[in-house]
Amino acid sequence: MPPPPLHRAAAERFERELGARDEQIAHLTELLETALAAASHGAQSAQNDIAALSAGITELTADLGRARARIAELVVSVQTEDYEEQLAACRERAEALEEEVADAEEWNQQLERQLQELPLDFVQQPLTDALSTGKLSSAPSLDTWLKKEEAVAVDRLLANVAPGGRNAQDATPGTVIASPSREHPDYYFQWVRDAAITMSSLVDLYTDDPASPLAAHLLEILDAYTSLQHTLQRTTNPSGTFSDLSCLGEPKFHTDGSAFTGSWGRPQRDGPPLRAIALMQYLHAYNASHPTLWSSEEGVEWFKTLYEPSLPAQSIIKADLEYISHNWHESGFDLWEEVRGLHFFTAMVQLRALREGAELAAAFGDVGAASWYQSQAEDMELFLEEFWDPKGSYRRDVGERALWTRLDGHVFLPHSDETLVTLLALTHDQRDRFPINFAPRDGLFAQTLAAVTMPLQGVGIGRYPEDAYNGYDSSTPDAGNPWFLCTTSAAEVLYRTAAHIQESGRLHVRERGAPFWEALLSATDTWLPLSPKPPDRTYHLADQLFNTTLARLKEVGDSFLDVVRRHASDEGSLSEQFDRVTGYETGARDLTWSYGALLQALRAREALH
Ligand code: NOJ
Ligand code: NOJ
Repeated sequence: MPPPPLHRAAAERFERELGARDEQIAHLTELLETALAAASHGAQSAQNDIAALSAGITELTADLGRARARIAELVVSVQTEDYEEQLAACRERAEALEEEVADAEEWNQQLERQLQELPLDFVQQPLTDALSTGKLSSAPSLDTWLKKEEAVAVDRLLANVAPGGRNAQDATPGTVIASPSREHPDYYFQWVRDAAITMSSLVDLYTDDPASPLAAHLLEILDAYTSLQHTLQRTTNPSGTFSDLSCLGEPKFHTDGSAFTGSWGRPQRDGPPLRAIALMQYLHAYNASHPTLWSSEEGVEWFKTLYEPSLPAQSIIKADLEYISHNWHESGFDLWEEVRGLHFFTAMVQLRALREGAELAAAFGDVGAASWYQSQAEDMELFLEEFWDPKGSYRRDVGERALWTRLDGHVFLPHSDETLVTLLALTHDQRDRFPINFAPRDGLFAQTLAAVTMPLQGVGIGRYPEDAYNGYDSSTPDAGNPWFLCTTSAAEVLYRTAAHIQESGRLHVRERGAPFWEALLSATDTWLPLSPKPPDRTYHLADQLFNTTLARLKEVGDSFLDVVRRHASDEGSLSEQFDRVTGYETGARDLTWSYGALLQALRAREALH
């Protein structure tokens, strides 16, 4: 059967659909063309961008290349310069090392020679250890600090002295308070000893420039001190009365001049000689600055208060000299106020006062007194010899061993062998006793040397080894601390020894003093020859040993003052003690004597040239 004929309507519909499709195709074709055109445009611009970028990269690469080249150039030049510098430094170091090696070799040879003579079982260290030996050098700022501290010390010392002292406003004129501390501990008293030592420092200041405004104020103080002592000498107190002079042994008074009646270590017989020494110094200084006084009417009056021949004694110095010359063999308490006995310090200052007193008496025509004081001084010298312990250190009193005392008499002078080996022994004791003194020493070689001789170096020094007084009480054994005034006295002894050697132009090394000189020199490359044995040799300016010794005395003296600097407060105040463990100031604050002792050490330092 034939297919059914296309229905016209259906055919028309198909045709319409075909037409619509054609239109659609045409539209899509158009869209496609537009899209193709856009794509090719995008590609073009991308290509452009790429080209631009790669041009940029090329440029940057070129820059980088140039920069690299520049860096390379710079590196080369830097390296070259650096290298040259390094080379120069290396050469210098090599030369220094060569010298050190030569020195060390020489040193080793000397050491070997000396070792053969030494009875000690001593192991020699290799050369490399010798190279590491450090030398003591004092801190560069010590001089600057000392300059400032000197002014602080004068100011704070005067603050404790009436009239005028800001801490002593309610004290009788002429009073020196020991410290402004009125409790824990109560030092608001006048000790005869502290006051006399302070007056010696003030006379020194007066002598420096008698025409200065300061000197005028000092004279006011010295005159007030003089009349106050005249009164104190006549004040009945627990030590006795003026009729037999026994009251002169009283150690301290209230600041209004009245007697202190509490229990105390009394009598203390160093007060009268220290006062006499200070007043004789004043008399000489004032006389020197007023040349016509001695032969004037007015002079007769002025000198009379201080010295005149009548007996019973009317004048201050004569009363003190009478007391000393009649009582020096009687026991008493010494400057540390604890032990009754015949003490070294007391005897030394008594001897000095008697010697100077004999001269003064002669100058006043008091001939009988002059020869009496002189004969007592001679007896004292024999007595003082008993203090020398043949094992090598002083005894503080007969029968008791102790190392320290302030040395200022006519025997056992600061530069004497006995003084110097005593100082050495005390320094070593204190170094090993107080934790603050355990600082590392100068290197291995020096430590090894210590087996033979201990290098001498500044440390904090206390009153005496077994001291228990911590500034407040004495209840705990071994609680003592280093003291500023003892540490500065160690420096003073060394400076004065240096001054003595400088002035005399000779250094005499004997067997007794040899341990000190060895310890002093053992941190240097100058050796004390051990032959002749026992050593007995004199050195002069042309000898290296003479010069090294002088330099070392100053250097070690400075190292003691450096300890003071380390433990002083930032403002430069000095108390009585500094703590054996923490190093901080402790005990009575602003101790007058601490400042006076520092000023005396500085004076001795300034005398060196
Ligand atoms: C007791 C101490 O031991 C002594 O040396 C010191 O002088 C006084 N106390 C001061 O208070
Ligand atoms: C204690 C000392 O040991 C003594 O010498 C001194 O006189 C007093 N303190 C007062 O400073």
